[in-house]
Amino acid sequence: MFDVEVFKKHLQIDEASCIKKLAEGKTKEIYEIKDTNDFVLIRSKNQLTAFNAARKNDLEGKGAIACRTTTNVFLYLQALGLHTHFETGVSETDFVAKRCEMIPIEWVVRRVATGSFLKRNPGVPQGYRFNNLKLETFFKDDENDDPQWSDEQIISREFVVNGLKIGREEIFLLKRQTKTIFQVLEKAWSLSDCQLIDMKVEFGVTTKGEIVLADVIDNDSWRVWPGGDKRLQLDKQMYRDMTEVTAESLQELVKNYEKVAELTGDWIRFPKCRALIIMGSTADTAFCEKIEKNLTSLGVMKCVRVCSAHKATTEVLHLVAEYEGDGVPTVVIAVAGRSNGLGPVIAGNSFLPVINAPPGGPEWISQDIWSSLHTPSGLGCTTALGADEAALAGAKILASHDHMVFGRILCDQLNNFLSIYKGDKKFTS
Ligand SMILES: Nc1ncnc2c1ncn2[C@@H]1O[C@H](COP(=O)(O)OP(=O)(O)O)[C@@H](O)[C@H]1O
Ligand SMILES: [Mg+2]
Repeated sequence: MFDVEVFKKHLQIDEASCIKKLAEGKTKEIYEIKDTNDFVLIRSKNQLTAFNAARKNDLEGKGAIACRTTTNVFLYLQALGLHTHFETGVSETDFVAKRCEMIPIEWVVRRVATGSFLKRNPGVPQGYRFNNLKLETFFKDDENDDPQWSDEQIISREFVVNGLKIGREEIFLLKRQTKTIFQVLEKAWSLSDCQLIDMKVEFGVTTKGEIVLADVIDNDSWRVWPGGDKRLQLDKQMYRDMTEVTAESLQELVKNYEKVAELTGDWIRFPKCRALIIMGSTADTAFCEKIEKNLTSLGVMKCVRVCSAHKATTEVLHLVAEYEGDGVPTVVIAVAGRSNGLGPVIAGNSFLPVINAPPGGPEWISQDIWSSLHTPSGLGCTTALGADEAALAGAKILASHDHMVFGRILCDQLNNFLSIYKGDKKFTS
């Protein structure tokens, strides 16, 4: 972990002796930080460029807005469990990140065909929708206008980045990661009825050899159309589309950039949906605690109650009705050992989705399970074996109500995939 307080004190004393410029691009400066090789300071500039810097403008405050948007986006992605280079914000324009050697590829993902895709693929109409996201890769090479590269071209270049060779598997993994990032940002944008059209990201390899999302994701990285209407675009494309750059048009642009910084600031939210865990007896407390733990890591609120369908039937129905009617999207997880009357009774008397989670030990489980599986008609409850599976099944039902639950599920799936990759790497390198 980077000690931000110590660093801030250094900055106040003498910025010049604390940081040394390592690199400068069109929109950012990268600084080395004294006494550490593992972190860099990334400073957003006020410059706005288009057409490979043929159009250039200095916009007061643009650096701070860009940094705010990037910080919002990275904090959101990290809250979902995604590995990024972002460490901490340190000032309006600066953040500290893990020092990376960058993979010189831009990873582009598209939901809707527009812009350069249409030029490269004549005949495809504007607005063509990629239900299965379209991924493209471009070699970062300003002199040649960032040419599009195939997987084979990337593999053949044999990039070695901080000791890691970028081969077929790494490309596959990075594309999968890019796709997940798009999906979770798309979901977040849908909160304010904006459509994420496309996006580009870059990855780097840290000094510890880990591949992470790096660089920035800000309003220059994507196309965002409120209500799916291109004319309302909020992003940098507006700058590219200006026939003439005037003080007024730039003012309009800054307003959009500010709006994006504001909207992305709302993405991290408290859980909005809930799992109601009902156990038939306190004997199942330990099992319910495991379900709770899994729900917490998926970002789902939970409520635990004890009630028996066999011994306190009317109370069960009253209890469920209370939760049914308070407006919070809810899924019921019914934990009952032996004969499970609880889940099926609730399922037959409520519109809430019910997941049976029989806690059963090995002794009678193969007999007990049938009370959850072979139910009377008209109930529609499902059954999950194991606390983690029950929690995940519940979270998946709730994901459409809460973008952060949706995001956590996708990022968990990505991280499962990454750990398989890491396991395989141990045997192949
Ligand atoms: N965590 C990091 N460590 C080191 N370099 C980074 C990191 N994140 C981004 N960079 C690099 O910082 C440079 C400056 O960014 P930018 O102004 O966007 O440059 P460019 O004009 O080349 O796109 C880029 O080359 C980018 O790859
Ligand atoms: Mg860049």
